[in-house]
Amino acid sequence: MEAILKRHSIRSFSSKPVDGATVEKIMHAAMAAPSAMGSRPWHFIVISDRDKLNAMTEIHPYSQMLTQAQCAILVCGDIEAESLPEFFQQDCAAATENILIAATDLGLGSVWVGLYPNEKYRRDFKELFQLPDSIEPFALVPLGLPNHPLQASDRFVASRVHANSW
Ligand SMILES: Cc1cc2nc3c(=O)[nH]c(=O)nc-3n(C[C@H](O)[C@H](O)[C@H](O)COP(=O)(O)O)c2cc1C
Repeated sequence: MEAILKRHSIRSFSSKPVDGATVEKIMHAAMAAPSAMGSRPWHFIVISDRDKLNAMTEIHPYSQMLTQAQCAILVCGDIEAESLPEFFQQDCAAATENILIAATDLGLGSVWVGLYPNEKYRRDFKELFQLPDSIEPFALVPLGLPNHPLQASDRFVASRVHANSW
C-alpha cells in the first residue's frame, strides 16, 4: 500500500545513475504481472543509451523528461504470444503498473508514457528499436532518482464504490 500510494508521475530526475541491480529487480516485478491465460506476451527493452533516450523525445512530444532520465523501459507486446486478440494491451498494462510500483518501492521516480495505440509512435518506435513485425511498442517508463522525496497521497472516492449493483 505504501508504494502504491506514493507512486506519482515523476518528470524531473537527478543526474545520479540508476544501478543495474535495481533495474533487474524492476524487471522481476514486471514479469510477475498477471496475463490472460498466463500468456505473458511481453518483452522489455532497457534503454540507457543517451542518444536513444534523446531520440525518443523527437518522436513523442510528451516524453521530454527523457532528457533527464537515467534509463527507460520500453514495454512491448508480442502479438504472436497473446492468448486472444486484443488482450496483450491489458497484459502489458499490468506489467507497466508493476514497473511503476516497484520503481517507487525502490526509491526511483517513474512515469507512464503512453504509446499504444498511436499509429505514429508505434511506427517510429518500431523503427528506432528495430522491432520485429510481431512486436508492438506499448508504453515507455522513464526512470531516475527523483529530485524531491515522493509523498503518499490517497485519492479514494467513496461514491465510486458500489455495493452489489450500481
Ligand atoms: C495510458 C497512459 C498514458 C500516459 N501518457 C503520458 C505521457 O505521454 N506523458 C506524460 O508525461 N505522462 C503520461 N501519463 C501519466 C499521466 O499523466 C498521470 O498518470 C496522471 O496525470 C496522474 O498523475 P500521477 O501519475 O502522478 O498519479 C500517462 C498515463 C497513462 C496511464
